[in-house]
Amino acid sequence: MTAQPLPVPDPQDRPTVDVVLTGDQLGEGVASVDPRSLDVKQKQAIYHDWESRTYEDKFSISYDERCIDYARDRFRKVVPEGAGFGDVLEVGAGTGFFLINLALGGCLEGAALNATDLSPGMLEVCARNGAENGFDVAVREGDAEALPHDDESFDLVIGHAFLHHLPVPGAALNEMFRILKPGGTLVLAGEPTELGDRLSWAVKRNTWRAFRAVTSVPGLAELRRPSIREAGGSANDEVLAGLEHEVDLHTFRPKDVEKMARLSGFGEVSVVTEELTANWFGWAVRTIEGAVRPGLLGPRWAFAAFRGYLALQRFDDDWLTRVVPREAFYNLILHARKPYPG
Ligand SMILES: C[S@@+](CC[C@H](N)C(=O)[O-])C[C@H]1O[C@@H](n2cnc3c(N)ncnc32)[C@H](O)[C@@H]1O
Repeated sequence: MTAQPLPVPDPQDRPTVDVVLTGDQLGEGVASVDPRSLDVKQKQAIYHDWESRTYEDKFSISYDERCIDYARDRFRKVVPEGAGFGDVLEVGAGTGFFLINLALGGCLEGAALNATDLSPGMLEVCARNGAENGFDVAVREGDAEALPHDDESFDLVIGHAFLHHLPVPGAALNEMFRILKPGGTLVLAGEPTELGDRLSWAVKRNTWRAFRAVTSVPGLAELRRPSIREAGGSANDEVLAGLEHEVDLHTFRPKDVEKMARLSGFGEVSVVTEELTANWFGWAVRTIEGAVRPGLLGPRWAFAAFRGYLALQRFDDDWLTRVVPREAFYNLILHARKPYPG
């Protein structure tokens, strides 16, 4: 990975943001920079570093039955029971949600667990989560488009919800191909499809409008989540939170992902898609959770929301996958193998 020198901020060019700079991507120290002068990877790194403090709360991530089932179900859609792996790497691992829940779910029995991410903050949480759940996760900072690992060093490379953050997803597929051993397996899950994402935007927008309309009734405005500043956050937090809209770079058509994987050299390539009504329901729930005053909804809401999501997921899997084209489902899972030479 090439270290990028930080652009010198123009003092006239406010607002700036104070970022703790760590690792190869940004250099070392603390600096006040204009976020507009950062390139997309630097934005990814500072945004996800900042987000690492609250990421698991925001996405209701846990290391229990609920998230274990979620991770294992995604994996088992493409990898059969009984498949074993020695060296495993999660790319764009964040706090380790996918890797650790797969390990807890018995999908990575006896494997050496490794995680890489652009954000050192995320990796710090990942290593801690591993330890708290009884696993030694070796973490290493790295850009998915230029991985710091040796050729042919892993039996399984996995990823969840990270490919759409990369400026050049095909470059990351080339890298994952390079570091896999011949015969090795690639599983990438949780990536948004182009059409599924468009449909989910309509759900988000309408839920948001309905919430704003209801809470504009006198007396109900108290239900709204206070702004970052009202909740005691700093100007820095506000600028960093605003980067959220700049870090989601892509959505994918399933056939394009299959093509990209084949171009990288992979064989046995397949993309399956999932979540249609479950996703609409999930986004409506998440939109309300993001809009409402923290602490108001409580565990009964979370339980009911989860039960609703599971019921709709079963409906999508059992019925809608038979009649609705795969492009309309929100999440895609890529499975591929690195062929043996010759
Ligand atoms: C939405 S989070 C997903 C994290 C985790 N895989 C999960 O499912 O919870 C996206 C992650 O991708 C990472 N990321 C963004 N750009 C990256 C890059 N070029 N190389 C490696 N990781 C990257 C971010 O730091 C962040 O941790």
